Amino acid sequence: MRLSALIKTALLAQVTAATSVARSPPQCDGAPATLELSDPPYENYFYSDCNTAAQVVVTSPLPDSNLEIISPRLIVAWPGGNSGVCAFFAPQSGINGSLAISLVNSTIGDPISGIHAKPSPGFATDAPVVGVRGVMRFNASAVLTVPILGSIRTIRDFVEGPSILYPEIQDAIAFSTGPDGSISLSRDWLDNVTSTTLTFVPVDSSSGQVSTTERTVTFAPGDYIFSASYNYPQLTQLKPSAVLANTSSDLIAQYPTQTTALSFLSYSQKLLAGAWRFLTYFGRDSMISALLLEPVLSNGEGSAMEAVIGAVLERLNRTDGSVCHEENIGDYATWTNLQNGIVSNDMICDYKMIDTDFFLPVLMQKYFLDNAVGRTRIPAGSIDPLNKNITYGELALLSARRILRLAAPFAEDPVKENLIRLKPNEVVGQWRDSSDGLGGGRIPYDVNTALVPAALRAISSLARGGVFRGDRDWAALADRYAKVWEDKTLSFFEITIPKEKAKHLVESYKNRTNFQGPSHADSIDDTIHFHALALDSPNNLSHIEVMNTDDCFRHFLLNTTNEAQLTVFINQTANNIRRTFPAGLMTGVGLVVANPAYGVDPGYAANFTNGAYHGTVVWSWQLAMMARGLEQQLGRCVRSKAAATGVPRFCTDPSVYGNLRTAYNLLWDNLEANAAQLSSEVWSWVFRGGRFVPTPLGVLPAPGGGSQTESNIQQLWSLTFLAVTRNAAFR
Ligand SMILES: *[C@@H]1O[C@H](CO)[C@@H](O)[C@H](O)[C@H]1NC(C)=O
Ligand SMILES: *[C@@H]1O[C@H](CO)[C@@H](O)[C@H](O)[C@H]1NC(C)=O
Ligand SMILES: *[C@@H]1O[C@H](CO)[C@@H](O)[C@H](O)[C@H]1NC(C)=O
Ligand SMILES: *[C@@H]1O[C@H](CO)[C@@H](O)[C@H](O)[C@H]1NC(C)=O
Ligand SMILES: *[C@@H]1O[C@H](CO)[C@@H](O)[C@H](O)[C@H]1NC(C)=O
Ligand SMILES: *[C@@H]1O[C@H](CO)[C@@H](O)[C@H](O)[C@H]1NC(C)=O
Ligand SMILES: *[C@@H]1O[C@H](CO)[C@@H](O)[C@H](O)[C@H]1NC(C)=O
Ligand SMILES: *[C@@H]1O[C@H](CO)[C@@H](O)[C@H](O)[C@H]1NC(C)=O
Ligand SMILES: *[C@@H]1O[C@H](CO)[C@@H](O)[C@H](O)[C@H]1NC(C)=O
Ligand SMILES: *[C@@H]1O[C@H](CO)[C@@H](O)[C@H](O)[C@H]1NC(C)=O
Ligand SMILES: *[C@@H]1O[C@H](CO)[C@@H](O)[C@H](O)[C@H]1NC(C)=O
Ligand SMILES: *[C@@H]1O[C@H](CO)[C@@H](O)[C@H](O)[C@H]1NC(C)=O
Repeated sequence: MRLSALIKTALLAQVTAATSVARSPPQCDGAPATLELSDPPYENYFYSDCNTAAQVVVTSPLPDSNLEIISPRLIVAWPGGNSGVCAFFAPQSGINGSLAISLVNSTIGDPISGIHAKPSPGFATDAPVVGVRGVMRFNASAVLTVPILGSIRTIRDFVEGPSILYPEIQDAIAFSTGPDGSISLSRDWLDNVTSTTLTFVPVDSSSGQVSTTERTVTFAPGDYIFSASYNYPQLTQLKPSAVLANTSSDLIAQYPTQTTALSFLSYSQKLLAGAWRFLTYFGRDSMISALLLEPVLSNGEGSAMEAVIGAVLERLNRTDGSVCHEENIGDYATWTNLQNGIVSNDMICDYKMIDTDFFLPVLMQKYFLDNAVGRTRIPAGSIDPLNKNITYGELALLSARRILRLAAPFAEDPVKENLIRLKPNEVVGQWRDSSDGLGGGRIPYDVNTALVPAALRAISSLARGGVFRGDRDWAALADRYAKVWEDKTLSFFEITIPKEKAKHLVESYKNRTNFQGPSHADSIDDTIHFHALALDSPNNLSHIEVMNTDDCFRHFLLNTTNEAQLTVFINQTANNIRRTFPAGLMTGVGLVVANPAYGVDPGYAANFTNGAYHGTVVWSWQLAMMARGLEQQLGRCVRSKAAATGVPRFCTDPSVYGNLRTAYNLLWDNLEANAAQLSSEVWSWVFRGGRFVPTPLGVLPAPGGGSQTESNIQQLWSLTFLAVTRNAAFR
């Protein structure tokens, strides 16, 4: 009671000061959507109502935390403009680990609530002031070490890069104190229109005190009302009932956390990739998510499917037909434009990826042909000003032309030189987009063996189905190209290791890396067979000898027909899933996306660690795509039998079919055991007490002491288990 009375007084003073012109804000119908997700040392709070959406992350070190990596930190992240606020704190005592911060429930919120106020008259924007507030507790005296106000990208440059801060952004923070004992940090954006404010008010001036001298803010132990707000146009959120197809609306009651998270990431303009680090458009993430979620997603005008496809087409490069990987918007766009000598707030697209183009026709095929819906005559340019005067349909044709152009050389002459490579001067180009994600390889496995042929098959279907009008000759051409890409690419990536050598390699991996678990060398009863992650590294490795989960793309996106190849391919995937790491990919916490144990060069084990973003770690969506891919291959045996069109040979080879079915069920047993992890982006493990124990990636040191990447607690493509479920027919 006492706390709540004090909060009311403090809050009233603060609201009056900050928003003296506030009239009654629009009433949202229905309660705000909230989620509270704990992933120690990270506590996550999601809030959205009809005015705004925000995520708050409070990090506080645990007794076993690595204090060089984890320190007390508050983050507020908004999808609107990919914006946010970040504040790092340190104990005034100077002893790391001696300060804990937390949010506490109060009359202000459980524990956060929304801010919404009309703009001040005469302001350069009519966007309302929106944000969140709550009560934060410091258990010891604290100092604010680093505040960052503006873009999530600016925050990520500090958190993930080598602690980069930009003086032109940091120096623009204004500090001010209020008569209620409050301290406000405020920064006007480079657009001269938006400003972000972070305020702390002691709940009780007798126990909490905040003081500031020379831009240094200190806090006495106690409770403080924090408010974070800004005035930037907000996106239109799709409620769970609008994201999902009507026929799937029962998922809302069945999976309230996942559907609330999906809605938090879904807007009529675009779907966002992940919270908090990727609260914006990412082409690959949104298209893979839509492909896996398609059976349950809404379609038609204003639907989730149109949000995804529309966002991709809107941002397409009309000059060369390439699909945008990531958009740069809000304050960071203005800042980037300024670095290029341009005064503009226009968004900027990044076109460096080589895989993203190929998902578009596959998704369009699903939407336009399989569902018989979809509109192409939508004018582009409302978000990307470079695409004015052109329609989405015309942009889609430009993209298809690009794919045919890129695919032609190998289709005509299937030699290694004609495989598709990363762009010159880029070290990344597909989903393993950290600098060591492909082990330096330039010719990625997924793009060449799965994405290109799948895109060609889809272009052929879209031409045949009349969606790509006027280009009907594409139907035969793209099919012809696809067949070559399906049949002739795998062999370049093949790696086979004789049984005895394979046993020796996993034993020596265990010795070299000090891996605490068993090597599982005894499970190697045959030649080991897998496909290199990529080919041709600058340090002259012809094959990146890292076992991996990228087989899932071929299983999910293609039904290849080259019998001899297909049987062996299916068998090796199943064997690699069945065997436990480091002999295979399986662990108690999911399939690792990379297993370097069979790599002879010591660099593999050193770079692909359980602290590396694309190391021996588990990515949820790869599990989803693998599960769906294996199910589709199993489905070929059933369907073909029914249609009497002849079953693929692997269906009738008991060793291979049995292997596949066993792998499918082992994977699902494992997924069911790890349900608590599945919605997050990526997670890692430690081997303790004889088993793999799940651990957030952000708390483990990165290889070579580099800066660590922290996982998103909710990731769009990790929510695909709403649609990917165990098929009881294959038990
Ligand atoms: C204390 O924390 C700071 C900030 O996180 C970090 O840079 C420093 O390395 C830590 N010191 C020790 C001894 O862990
Ligand atoms: C604050 O919390 C930290 C971490 O739990 C703890 O080590 C410290 O003793 C606490 N300080 C006080 C004054 O309670
Ligand atoms: C706040 O209250 C909610 C119930 O309304 C509870 O679930 C949650 O754990 C509480 N959070 C804190 C930080 O005490
Ligand atoms: C903001 O105002 C400054 C000072 O007037 C000006 O130099 C700058 O170009 C403006 N920026 C934008 C994006 O309009
Ligand atoms: C889905 O349900 C909503 C609300 O009942 C309705 O307005 C809408 O037309 C339905 N959509 C479809 C595609 O049936
Ligand atoms: C679009 O592609 C062309 C040709 O590759 C390139 O020169 C241009 O910079 C790209 N546009 C943008 C906005 O990046
Ligand atoms: C779009 O058309 C208008 C009117 O013809 C023209 O002024 C503008 O420059 C065009 N924009 C682009 C991006 O081509
Ligand atoms: C390991 O990483 C280092 C540093 O990035 C790099 O120089 C080396 O080539 C990598 N080795 C392998 C096999 O990936
Ligand atoms: C691994 O270490 C064990 C124990 O030291 C040793 O017996 C074995 O020979 C080593 N194996 C390899 C392959 O290095
Ligand atoms: C790779 O091979 C080329 C040509 O044989 C040689 O010039 C170069 O030094 C080699 N690079 C490394 C890192 O070994
Ligand atoms: C499939 O793999 C198993 C286990 O390695 C092996 O025994 C079997 O011979 C393989 N079948 C084919 C057709 O390759
Ligand atoms: C492959 O076949 C399965 C089973 O018939 C089917 O579900 C799936 O959609 C097919 N995939 C493609 C890419 O055609």
